[in-house]
Amino acid sequence: MSAGPRKPFENKIVEWVDSRLPLFTMLDKEYGVFPTPKNFNYFWNFGAIAMFMLVTMIVSGITLAMHYAANTGIAFDSVERIMRDVNYGWLLRYIHMNGASFFFVAVYIHIFRGMYYGSYKQPRELLWIFGVVIFLLMMATAFMGYVLPWGQMSYWGATVITNFFTAFPLVGESVQTLLIGGFSVDNPTLNRFFALHYLLPFVIVGVVFLHVWALHVTGSNNPSGIEPKTKEDTLPFHPYYTMKDSFGILVFVIIYAIFIFFMPNALGHPDNYIPANPMVTPAHIVPEWYFLPFYAILRAVTIDIGIPFTEVTIITAKLGGVLLMFGSIAVLLVMPWLDSHPVRSARYRPKFKFFLLLFVVIVLVLGKVGGMPADVPLFHITENMIFTTTHVAQIATVYYFAFFLVVLPILSRVEKALPVPASIHESVTNCKSSCEGNA
Ligand code: HEM
Repeated sequence: MSAGPRKPFENKIVEWVDSRLPLFTMLDKEYGVFPTPKNFNYFWNFGAIAMFMLVTMIVSGITLAMHYAANTGIAFDSVERIMRDVNYGWLLRYIHMNGASFFFVAVYIHIFRGMYYGSYKQPRELLWIFGVVIFLLMMATAFMGYVLPWGQMSYWGATVITNFFTAFPLVGESVQTLLIGGFSVDNPTLNRFFALHYLLPFVIVGVVFLHVWALHVTGSNNPSGIEPKTKEDTLPFHPYYTMKDSFGILVFVIIYAIFIFFMPNALGHPDNYIPANPMVTPAHIVPEWYFLPFYAILRAVTIDIGIPFTEVTIITAKLGGVLLMFGSIAVLLVMPWLDSHPVRSARYRPKFKFFLLLFVVIVLVLGKVGGMPADVPLFHITENMIFTTTHVAQIATVYYFAFFLVVLPILSRVEKALPVPASIHESVTNCKSSCEGNA
């Protein structure tokens, strides 16, 4: 913080604090007068909405933890007690349960916004990478949280997913044993998952801090993807975007509240209201909806890869699935380098827009088949060959990776962009700054 002269604050207490620790000067610089592109659309609300959800999850989670018991003998009952006997316990639980889904909704829209408007591109690569790290941490946190109520899906979900670690040669089994604290999912698993589920949100807060710090170094991207050049391209963050963000959060909360109050279990699985039973495997084990596309990728690999004409297997189908699943997130990390097209926004890149929207459709298809049992027959190709949901997942997985590894690099070289406006001001007014006076 610069030690240069500054206008004193009118409020005596604020001035007293600020002259000793320039907290208010910093807030004013970063959130008051912070120059922000004036052409933001509602997609730019989702960072603030994600932030709101993070706080909501932490506050409701801490309160739930005051009543929850992380012991396999009583975990399920302690959750039922929260629902029936704790004052407003049902509300707390429904806020937290549905909050996880709405947090993912906000973050998926936030990621899509970043992809569509090219916010991952230079100079915002690190900001994007912090985002991907947050996403990974969110997934780990949500996965462990789902185990805590100790219902059938909690238990079997944890069993299936932690079992995938055994696919890694040499260290796999030890990693799995360390993760679940024994040779099968049990009380030690529940204890360590509870501890980590409590810890990770605070790690997320730390990475969000770095994320927003990096954002304030580069400044925000905007729908036209052009950097602000003059003062007329920007507005002070307050009151314009504090108001717009508050409005966005309000609309989001209304939809969130409709779920909490009128359909609180719509996004969950009924089997999780059955206490965990290691002796009874559910007919169909599925993760929460926000994991389904990745679950479909995990199950898409059905054959071992080995040396042709020998019995030697190099990558088992199980390991291949796990590698692809992690790869589907890891590929996001290198997206800024796979797409080196000089134009950021999809507004001026029709081909990129087409392939990106197709990518979104494909992710939805993956989500759909991820939620279905494997190998559901769809139609006959020939009399003996049946096209199944696994084939759909395989084709969709190929496009998922081809979008990043083939489409983006090729488009970076060959796509001819539409004319890009000279400035943000021009993009919103359709008017070069010179025509302002004549309007
Ligand atoms: C806890 C989760 C997250 C929070 C609280 C969060 C918060 C924010 C906030 C407050 C902003 C500025 C406002 C805005 O542009 O919407 C922002 C911008 C951004 N975030 Fe996130 N974020 C989260 C997750 C992610 C993820 C998972 C990604 C990508 C994988 C990501 C990528 C970006 C990018 C690229 C920007 C810059 C946008 C621009 O300038 O156009 N964020 N984030």
